[in-house]
Amino acid sequence: MEDIRNKGFATQQIHAGAKKDPYGALTMPIYMTSTFAFDSVQQGSARFALKEEGYVYTRAGNPTLSQVEEKMAVLEGGEAAVGTASGMGAISSAIWTLLEAGDEIVASNTLYGCTFALFSSDMPRIGFKVHFVDFTDLDALSAAINEKTKIVYFETPCNPTLKVIDIEAVCKLSHEKNKNACVMVDNTFASPYLQQPLKLGADVVVHSATKYINGHGDEICGFIVGSKDFIMAVHGSGLKEMTGAVMDPHCAFMINRGLGTLDLRMEKHCANAMEVAKFLHDHPAVEKVYYPGLEDFEGYEIAKKQMRLPGAMLSIDLRGGRDAVGEAINKLKLCRIAVSLGDAETLVEHPATMTHATHSAQDLKDSGITEGLVRISVGREDAADIIDDLKQALDSLL
Ligand SMILES: Cc1ncc(COP(=O)(O)O)c(C=O)c1O
Repeated sequence: MEDIRNKGFATQQIHAGAKKDPYGALTMPIYMTSTFAFDSVQQGSARFALKEEGYVYTRAGNPTLSQVEEKMAVLEGGEAAVGTASGMGAISSAIWTLLEAGDEIVASNTLYGCTFALFSSDMPRIGFKVHFVDFTDLDALSAAINEKTKIVYFETPCNPTLKVIDIEAVCKLSHEKNKNACVMVDNTFASPYLQQPLKLGADVVVHSATKYINGHGDEICGFIVGSKDFIMAVHGSGLKEMTGAVMDPHCAFMINRGLGTLDLRMEKHCANAMEVAKFLHDHPAVEKVYYPGLEDFEGYEIAKKQMRLPGAMLSIDLRGGRDAVGEAINKLKLCRIAVSLGDAETLVEHPATMTHATHSAQDLKDSGITEGLVRISVGREDAADIIDDLKQALDSLL
């Protein structure tokens, strides 16, 4: 469809990237092949030299992937996208494409645990300087960006405190301070249905598509979205040569299927989350609810400005602190104790000992993660049933 970029989100999530199949298949088939045969040596050489379009080897490209990559590019409002083997594969492939010796990174001080570990341990280990900053403090951010800054990296809402960062303000400031800095946003918690960072000035979006993009809890995968030139560079270097973290064709097929219902799933997730957040807000065992949809939450106004809906991730501090966590959470009967998010099932976890277990006590403090913080990925069950289950578990603390 020629003008797919002018269509509505629902139309795009169904039709973008669709290709004419030689057999008329309506659904993109799974091209489960590692390599592609050439008609001649000349053709193979021409494809390697990028003088002829066509596929060579699935690590460099595959028709099932191409379709879903085109769809993600359209949904995020980017020129191009590339599928990866995981969210961490997306993040590492994107940063390896950019970094040169001597470059520095400015990163948000509240990040998913493995991303934080990558920036706080692994990058310094191999010689890259990383400055951690609270991105809601624009003066501190401004002070951290210098002429060596190659990447400005953040998530919003942040995992697991749901801190909301003003995407437009951060992009504007970063580019003013250093026009060559690449602003990279992890859009996992929102999905493109709720928020499109590229349209607010970001250069690159990364995703753990394991979460809302797939939405069914049965794949590990990721995406990088950005300009055509950057995605070409990721294909040719970061992904193809440095990480090899490519998405497999079966996964691309599953993602294509999942994306077709993204808007419907997000609407249900968000409606449920709002009801759950209101219930938790009034429960006497709960000290604080971290949810961008609640008016008394710090990020409420910015979330309203840059998100279609406030999402379906929330966290709570229990009045009883760390001791109350095990006591209450072990009583859940419907909600499952598990990491990950964006699945049909409501998932509950304890960041300090699970997703953010590699954080030191000081890292937890700097990230705003308390020992009693419980993170909830509100699922797509009936809201009343989720609330009933949380109520019986939390009532046991009274
Ligand atoms: C915000 C965020 N980014 C990235 C990742 C990493 O994604 P994956 O587990 O697909 O590698 C996660 C995983 O939980 C996440 O929550």
